[in-house]
Amino acid sequence: MIRRTFVQLLPILTIFLILPVTGLHASELHPRQVVLTWQSDPSTSMTITWRTDARGEGHTLRYAESALALPQDWRTAEATTFTFEETSAWLHTASLQDLKPGRNYYVIIDHPTHPDMFYFTTMPDENNRRELVFLAGGDSRSRREVRREMNELAIRLDPDFVIFDGDFINNALNEQQWDDWFDDWHEQMRTPAGRRIPIIPAIGNHEVEGSYLQPREMAPFYLNRFVTPEPRNYYVLKPGPDLMLITLDTDHLTEVTEQTRWLEQTLEDNSNARWKMVQWHVAAWPSVRDFDGSIPSKIRNHWIPVIEKHGVDIVIEAHDHAYKKTVPIRNGQQDNENGILYLGDGGWGAPIRETKNPEDYWWLDEAMTIDHFWKFTLSRDGRNLEVEPVFRPPGKSFTLEK
Ligand SMILES: [Fe+2]
Repeated sequence: MIRRTFVQLLPILTIFLILPVTGLHASELHPRQVVLTWQSDPSTSMTITWRTDARGEGHTLRYAESALALPQDWRTAEATTFTFEETSAWLHTASLQDLKPGRNYYVIIDHPTHPDMFYFTTMPDENNRRELVFLAGGDSRSRREVRREMNELAIRLDPDFVIFDGDFINNALNEQQWDDWFDDWHEQMRTPAGRRIPIIPAIGNHEVEGSYLQPREMAPFYLNRFVTPEPRNYYVLKPGPDLMLITLDTDHLTEVTEQTRWLEQTLEDNSNARWKMVQWHVAAWPSVRDFDGSIPSKIRNHWIPVIEKHGVDIVIEAHDHAYKKTVPIRNGQQDNENGILYLGDGGWGAPIRETKNPEDYWWLDEAMTIDHFWKFTLSRDGRNLEVEPVFRPPGKSFTLEK
């Protein structure tokens, strides 16, 4: 009885005996705002970043292939702890490497009294193919309640990952807005079974103080909190054996023209990918804004000839806050055989806007003033990519074949 009582009291004793030595409350070291990203191969790696209010020391997580793994089968990863001038948060990033493709990994972020347990799934490789479901959207910005409804719609679809095309929040340096966004993501983007959803983010104008052609110091929250391949505002990932996704920066930290050579080289290096997708924030084929704006014109002049040459299938666009599907486009005109589809234009909580009338603009197949994101279902054999707009309320799907 005495022994049992001691065991029951142990967590409490830990709080009162150990934490006062460091001068911290347990809540200040509570891991929260967990975000999963990829820095390298999505089939063999995962980067896990979380926040605490106090610095603490020796932040670690444990991971294993089963929640019931024996103690010796849990591996430990030490996190890199850092902060930056504009935040009160302490961030901790653990980069897990050499994982097995297509497996579940259970994770415990260590905390003296409230260890946080969840799991993630590595992407499959050629040897363990399966159907993949992923979502793409953007512009969550300022209507938090709508954003939370969109998150709820998203998690119900049980996605393998989410592509998020910029404008997470409204004010780039407003920590409260970022905290609300990450609190919602942490709370909502976890399946009922406990699986957390990785995010592949793009930078938008609202991530940058000054919006366009600013130094990197103007985007501290985006660059520090989404740990992606360097330089973080543009990069490539291959989630699954059939898909390559390139993320670009539409003149926010790096000018469009400065990324063209990298874009071309990256497409050459990944020429064998069956499906090639790109995301960028400012729409080259806008549903709301001016077609002749300087950034859309730059994109059409510098990037689009390159992606047309290298067989890109779909581009995710945003920034206009409306639902849009273009006709297939090649060489500045409709090409139903070889054209690229541009899907946008952001509607994950941002104020939604009146669109152009699709009948008056040749590039617009559909445009509507409605909150939405896109759902993609890539078949196990990689040949079929089903594309479905998800509205508030729901809509219809269509399928592409190759
Ligand atoms: Fe934007």
